[in-house]
Amino acid sequence: MELVTNSLKILNEEDKKDLDVARISEDEKSTASRKLYIESYGCQMNFADSEIVASILRENDFATTSKIEEAELILLNTCAIRENAEQKVRHRLQHLVPMKNKRKNVKIGILGCMAERLKTKLLEEEKIVDMVVGPDAYRDLPNLINEVEEGHKAVNVFLSREETYADITPIRLDSNGVTAFISIMRGCDNMCSFCVVPYTRGRERSRDAHSIVKEATDLFNQGYKEVTLLGQNVDSYKWQSADNSVVTFANLLEMVAQVSPDLRVRFSTSHPKDITDEVLYTIKKYDNICKYIHLPAQSGSSRILELMNRTYDREWYMGKIDRIREILGEECGISQDMIAGFCTETEEDHQDTLSLMDYVKYDYGYMFAYSERPNTPAAKKLTDDVPDDIKSRRLAEIIAKQREHSLERNQMSVGKVYKVLVEGFSKRSQEHLSGRNDQNKMIIFPRESFQKGDYVNVLVTECSSATLIGHIVE
Ligand code: SAH
Ligand code: SF4
Ligand code: F3S
Repeated sequence: MELVTNSLKILNEEDKKDLDVARISEDEKSTASRKLYIESYGCQMNFADSEIVASILRENDFATTSKIEEAELILLNTCAIRENAEQKVRHRLQHLVPMKNKRKNVKIGILGCMAERLKTKLLEEEKIVDMVVGPDAYRDLPNLINEVEEGHKAVNVFLSREETYADITPIRLDSNGVTAFISIMRGCDNMCSFCVVPYTRGRERSRDAHSIVKEATDLFNQGYKEVTLLGQNVDSYKWQSADNSVVTFANLLEMVAQVSPDLRVRFSTSHPKDITDEVLYTIKKYDNICKYIHLPAQSGSSRILELMNRTYDREWYMGKIDRIREILGEECGISQDMIAGFCTETEEDHQDTLSLMDYVKYDYGYMFAYSERPNTPAAKKLTDDVPDDIKSRRLAEIIAKQREHSLERNQMSVGKVYKVLVEGFSKRSQEHLSGRNDQNKMIIFPRESFQKGDYVNVLVTECSSATLIGHIVE
């Protein structure tokens, strides 16, 4: 059974990486005659994929809408990472039944990781679904939609070794016009034993570096001021050009940083085994590459890390943290992902996780109770034997510890001045703006005469565990 606490996490209230919240498409101004509604679940890569889907379908006379009742095509871009992510989609489908009964011509498609995991089974289990499309099959959407319109159910869940959608310009959905995501690779070859991603997203492949730089340049020319380079494991990015020269992640970071000193560059996610000194020195070299690293540990126990097949142990991980602090300084933002209650986890293993957190003092984190995923190595070879109440309690302890550390790290920022990129109004008031500093901390401050897209210097005067508060200084 999935725990309710599973989706609990500490993060900046206004943070984008909201793994469990659905985001819906917005109203697109277009002459297209057909209306498409997309709802996206899961990670940033899924949101980025929805923007590719919107682009492919615009070529086929569809414009996105935020009003589900006016759409003739409804797409749910789904996540399979934990059981509750899938439950959420199933509940959503139940809610759509009355509408589908009323409007027979509306078509419903399931995209993304749940589509890939369940394939045709989804059509059997969820009768209102017309179409099941995996993450590498989005170019086929126009054909699949035709099939559905001819009265058939349509499925394409082929995974590709080459597809990167490099030539497709995403249509930015739910955009603040200032920050954007760029997918630099797809898939994952890591095989962490708990994880479904290698099965839902297929083999790792890197996108043409020039197409990435072009996308960043185009965004900057349109007024965007920050790009986040996305991949399940960005540090293993590797692309070979026609003349056989190889572009590594460090090279790519540098290429994107050179688009303009006014374009901030972020990236996610780094795997501890792959992040190199070369990457750290590149981050240091460019002021516009943000000093913030999301470095999921998953556990602080070497025994559990081995069972998870993370390929590093506690000491190696600590060594990486030391290296980050040596090269980028104490202030460099570091965040984590942790899993509580993985197979065979003892109280001692759990204490190792807490003590690793004490060692690192993460700025924030995303914390989850282990959720067994069918057909993963852990599901096949290990037993999900930590009782739910113990998982919950350990998760609560991890979350409480993170909250303490977030507060402590935020308090270190009080009295300091940071360069902040304004992303928009604060959630609570139009008199306040919000934006992030280099270390990815959200700061709220009175707006004065500034607006989104501006860089301002902000003196931090107070904080909570989630937010910094301050005012603009010269
Ligand atoms: N590629 C990223 C993570 C992608 S999934 C990385 O390697 O760090 C995001 C997070 O979900 C993971 O870091 C992990 O903490 C969590 N997660 C993945 N599978 C899970 C499972 N079966 N149960 C609970 N949490 C899981
Ligand atoms: Fe999953 Fe591990 Fe790949 Fe991350 S690196 S997506 S946790 S298999
Ligand atoms: Fe979920 Fe797939 Fe992302 S499983 S976390 S949407 S890669």
